[in-house]
Amino acid sequence: MRSILVTGGAGFIGSNLVLELQHRHPNAHIVVIDDFRSGDFRNLIGFKGEFVAADLSRLDWNAQFRNLSFDAIFHEASITDTTVHDQFLQTHNNVESFRRLLDFAAPSLIPVIYASSASVYGLGSNVMQEDQPPAPANVYAFSKVQLDNLARIYARRQPAWKIVGVRYFNVYGMHEAHKKAAASMIYQLYLQIKAGKRPRVFHSGGQRRDFVHVKDAVNMTIDALSAPQSRVYNCGSGRAFSFNEVIDELNRNLGTDLAPEYFENPYGFYQPRTEADLTLARTELKYSPEFPPIRGIADYVAALEGRKSA
Ligand SMILES: NC(=O)c1ccc[n+]([C@@H]2O[C@H](COP(=O)([O-])OP(=O)(O)OC[C@H]3O[C@@H](n4cnc5c(N)ncnc54)[C@H](O)[C@@H]3O)[C@@H](O)[C@H]2O)c1
Repeated sequence: MRSILVTGGAGFIGSNLVLELQHRHPNAHIVVIDDFRSGDFRNLIGFKGEFVAADLSRLDWNAQFRNLSFDAIFHEASITDTTVHDQFLQTHNNVESFRRLLDFAAPSLIPVIYASSASVYGLGSNVMQEDQPPAPANVYAFSKVQLDNLARIYARRQPAWKIVGVRYFNVYGMHEAHKKAAASMIYQLYLQIKAGKRPRVFHSGGQRRDFVHVKDAVNMTIDALSAPQSRVYNCGSGRAFSFNEVIDELNRNLGTDLAPEYFENPYGFYQPRTEADLTLARTELKYSPEFPPIRGIADYVAALEGRKSA
C-alpha cells in the first residue's frame, strides 16, 4: 500500500493501528485525522506521516484531499464514551463523520474498514453472531448500528466496493490510558490494584466480557482488507472472561492478593455477558487470536510494568 488514511488515529486502537501500518509499510504515505476530543498526541509519538487536525463530522474531504487518493481508509474515529447520552451529539458525530467519508471514498471505490461495536448486540447473554438483529441499549450503540446500516446501503449500490466492519468486543492494551473511565475494565482494575486498593466491580463480579488484546484487534483490522466481500466481522478473543477472573490474573501477574470489593450496578443497560462467535472471521479472514485472556493480561501487565511483553 502506498497511501493509507486512518481516522481517530490519536485514539487507542487508531494509534496502535497507525504504528503497525507504519511498521509494515515504511514507505507508505500515512495520513491521520483526529480532533482530539478523546485522543491524545502522546499515542502518536514516533509517527512519521501527515496529521490533519479536523472534526470529521464537518470535514470537506474533497477540499482537504484535492490531489490525494488512498489505497485504503481505516475509520476508527467516534465518540467512544458510552455514557454520553446526548442523542444528537453522539449520532451526529458518529454517523455524519462516516457518511462524509463514504461519499469521498465512493467514486474511486477506496476500500473502507470501519469500527463497529459489540454494543450493537445489546443486553443478551448468548454467544453473539454477526447476523443476529441489533438491539442497541444506548445511543452510542444506536449510532454504531447506523454505521452498519450505512455501510450496507453504500455497498449494495456499488457491489465492487469493499466496506468492511470490524465489530470490536472489549479491547484492552497499551495507549488506552487517555480514555480514563471509558478505558477497559482490565486497565481500571490494574490501576486500582497498583494504588493498593481493593478492585471494585459490580455484584458479584460474575459479569463476563470477551476481552480482546489490541494487537489481535489491529491484526484483524488490517486483515479485513482481504475480506471476500463487504460485511461485518466479530473481533474478540472468542472467550468470555469474568471480572473476578480478571482480578485473579492481575493479582497473579502483579504479585498482589487484593480481594474484590463488590457494589451495586447503577446502570440499566449494562451487558451481563459478551462473547464473540468468531466462525466468520476465522474462515473468511483466517483470524486466529494470539492472545487468549490469560496470555493477553500477562502481556499487558508486562508492558504496563515496563517488562518485556510478547
Ligand atoms: N476500545 C474498545 O473496546 C472498542 C469496542 C468497540 C468498538 N470500538 C470502536 O473502535 C473505535 C476506536 O475506539 P478507541 O477505543 O480507540 O477509542 P478512542 O476514544 O481512544 O479513539 C477514538 C478517536 O476518535 C477521535 N474522534 C472522535 N470523533 C471525532 C471527529 N468527529 N473527528 C475527528 N476525530 C474524532 C477521538 O479524538 C479519538 O482519538 C471507535 O469507533 C469505537 O467506537 C472500540
